[in-house]
Amino acid sequence: MWNPGNIIENIVNEIRSTVGEDEKVLCAVSGGIDSTTTALLVKKAIGDRLVAVFVNHGLLREGEAEEVLNMLRNLGINPIYIDASKMFLDALKGVRDCEEKRRIIGELFAKIFKDIVESDKFIKWLAQGTTYPDVIESGFVPGADRIKSHHNVAGLPSWLGLKLLEPIKYLYKDEVRAIALRLGVPEDWVYRHPFPGPGLAVRIIGEITEEKLRIVRRASKIVEEELRRSGLYRRVWQAFAVVGDDKWVGVKGDRRAVGYIVTIRIVESEDGMTADWSRIPLDVLDNIARRITSEIPEVTMVTYAITSKPPSTIEPC
Ligand code: XMP
Repeated sequence: MWNPGNIIENIVNEIRSTVGEDEKVLCAVSGGIDSTTTALLVKKAIGDRLVAVFVNHGLLREGEAEEVLNMLRNLGINPIYIDASKMFLDALKGVRDCEEKRRIIGELFAKIFKDIVESDKFIKWLAQGTTYPDVIESGFVPGADRIKSHHNVAGLPSWLGLKLLEPIKYLYKDEVRAIALRLGVPEDWVYRHPFPGPGLAVRIIGEITEEKLRIVRRASKIVEEELRRSGLYRRVWQAFAVVGDDKWVGVKGDRRAVGYIVTIRIVESEDGMTADWSRIPLDVLDNIARRITSEIPEVTMVTYAITSKPPSTIEPC
C-alpha cells in the first residue's frame, strides 16, 4: 500500500546504497516543494555530505529569498546562498525569446554549479527534484512531445561531470506533498503553488526590464493575497500575474495614461500536465483588478486568461 513512511524509507535506502561512502551530493534548492523534499531525503540518507545551494537569480517573487532561507534553515538545511541577481539580469538584457531566456538561465546556473563542483573534489552527484510530469513534458519519455525545455531536466549533470540522482522522479505532486509533510515541511510551504525554475522570466513576455519585473512581482503578490483572503488559495494549482509589452490607454485622475496590460492566470490542475482555467468568483477577480490598477500606477488594464491547457500552456512562455 502507498504510504509516505514506506516511500521515504525506500528512497533513503536507495540513496545510501547508491552514493559512495565519502561522496558528496550537490543539490540546488529553491524553496519549492520538489527541491526541498529532494534535499531533505538526501540529508536524511547521507547527512552533511549534502551540499545544498540556493541561487537567487533575481527573478524570484516578492520577499521570497529571505522566506526560503528561513524555511530551509528551520528544517536543518543550511544552503550556500549565492545572490547572482545582477549577473542573470545583465545576461538577459535585450532577450525576448522564451527558450533563449531558459537557455541563458540554465547556462548561468550550470556555471555557478561548476565553480562549486571544482572547489570540492568529493562532490560526485547532482540531486534534482525532477518529478514524473517534468520527465514527460521535457520529452524524456518515448512518445511524448517536447513542449518546453524545463531546465531542471537538461544535460546539466554530464556537463558538470556528475552522476544524476533523482529521488522523486517517479512521484506525482500530491505524493511529493505527502512525503514533504511527513518530513516536517510546514503545511503552508507544502501547499505553496509550484513556481517555475526560471522564475518570473517566463511570466514576462518579451524583454525583462526592471519596470516589468516590478509590475509582475507586485501584481502576483496581490493575486496571492486576494486568493488567500477569500480562502481559495489551496483550491487552485497556480495563480499569478503576467506582463508583456502591449499597452492600453487609460484614464488616471482625469488624464490620459498609457499603461501596461496585466493578465491574471489562475488554473486548477492535478499535476500541471493539463489544466482548467479557474472559475473563481467575479468579486474576487474584481478586487484583484481594482487593487492592481490602484496600487501599480503603470497598469491600466487587467485581463483574465480563460483558456485551458491544452491548447494553452499554464505559463505564457
Ligand atoms: P506549462 O507552462 O508547460 O507548465 O503548462 C506546466 C508546469 O510546469 C511549470 N513550468 C516550469 N517549471 N522550469 C520549471 O521548473 C520551467 O522552465 C517551467 N516552465 C513551466 C509551470 O509553472 C507549471 O506548473
